Amino acid sequence: MALIDSIDNLHTTSMGEERIRRNLALNKPDVIAWCKEKIINADIIIRKGKNWYVYIDGIVITVNSHSNTVITAHKTKVSVREITPADYPLLEDFIYHAIFVPAGTETPPRGIIYNPDVFIYIDRFGSKPGDCGVVAEVGGKVIGAAWERIIPAFGHVDDETPELAISVLPKYRGQAAGTLLMARLFGLLRESGFKKTSLAVQKENTAVKFYQRLGYITVRESVEEYIMVKDL
Ligand SMILES: CC(C)(COP(=O)(O)OP(=O)(O)OC[C@H]1O[C@@H](n2cnc3c(N)ncnc32)[C@H](O)[C@@H]1OP(=O)(O)O)[C@@H](O)C(=O)NCCC(=O)NCCS
Repeated sequence: MALIDSIDNLHTTSMGEERIRRNLALNKPDVIAWCKEKIINADIIIRKGKNWYVYIDGIVITVNSHSNTVITAHKTKVSVREITPADYPLLEDFIYHAIFVPAGTETPPRGIIYNPDVFIYIDRFGSKPGDCGVVAEVGGKVIGAAWERIIPAFGHVDDETPELAISVLPKYRGQAAGTLLMARLFGLLRESGFKKTSLAVQKENTAVKFYQRLGYITVRESVEEYIMVKDL
């Protein structure tokens, strides 16, 4: 990870320091030492354009990747927690929103979730060994979910590798909920002893870029889909 390798070069400007202190109500004598500690222990670090984005403890730190300047840090609106049985009924909504609708095609009827190919992702969720997941909340409302199951579904690679399903409600997309969900999910999977996780994604889905950024690699493809795997 290039950011960790160049951590000794990390610095900020007086405006950057003031911004970080103000945004986080931070009362530490050395803001850069505080940033370094957070970066080393980050849940996930993502490169987008010219910046690194470091996610940890509900905070995102933005670092310019060319100059190693810490630009800012702020709290994320989104919080993530492990899924509980009370959330399981919500998976019907989230599997529906996970279905890719190509541009120019009609949104499928909600009943599509009961197709066996789709229902397998949520059917009696929590009852199979390996079932695990996380939800994202904004102001106490669940706005996204990411979960894993070992199932012979679209993204199956072997019987030891759980497969991902994820969606964020449309109006909350592009605000890092997906990234935060995945960071927490990878942690849970590692704690459970899994070595990798897989998924299937339509080639046309912009989520392909999202998965590549998270470290997924394509291991197989059909005309329409990539099967991708991430080593944990
Ligand atoms: C894919 C998805 C879970 C990502 O969640 P998110 O909260 O939007 O993700 P983040 O904000 O952390 O990251 C945004 C990235 O996701 C990707 N993305 C995919 N669909 C997107 C959308 N509708 N809106 C915004 N970003 C989207 C983009 O690559 C974006 O990167 P960019 O910021 O460089 O444009 C979410 O967009 C979603 O629910 N999509 C529809 C369901 C889906 O496709 N599920 C996957 C099926 S395999």
